[in-house]
Amino acid sequence: MPMFDMDACELLDADHLAVKHLFVEYARLATAMPQESAGDRQQIAMRICEALTVHAQIEEEIFYPALREAVPEAADLLDEAEEEHQQAKDLIARIQASGSAGPEMDELVAELAREIEHHVKEERDELFPKARAGMPGQLGPLAEQLRERQQALMAAAA
Ligand SMILES: [Fe+2]
Ligand SMILES: [Fe+2]
Repeated sequence: MPMFDMDACELLDADHLAVKHLFVEYARLATAMPQESAGDRQQIAMRICEALTVHAQIEEEIFYPALREAVPEAADLLDEAEEEHQQAKDLIARIQASGSAGPEMDELVAELAREIEHHVKEERDELFPKARAGMPGQLGPLAEQLRERQQALMAAAA
């Protein structure tokens, strides 16, 4: 089967799950071995920031505008989602600027994890059902667009 057998919501949710695993691993290391794992936590934090930056960008460029057009009553939810993206970007910038892993980065990463958990829950529980109901035929082609853009952005970042 082609890769875009996955629909747009499933593709975005796969990203959510991958980032969730990184947050869990970060928190585990921060608790279990705060001194020895500083280098690993630093790397995980940078991966989280990169993944979320690309994820937010493909949502903002492709998924949110398509949903906004197809489902006018999603506008308020989308406005709120975009505000949450901006808050996440501010935290991401602080994490990227905070240098090596330690208590300060741990606190920022934990705060980002909480914000993202809340945001993802809204996408899953409110936005994705609206997308599935309001633009069912578009979700396959949208997944293909999202994947192409994601790969281009990740290649540019590497
Ligand atoms: Fe998302
Ligand atoms: Fe989002």
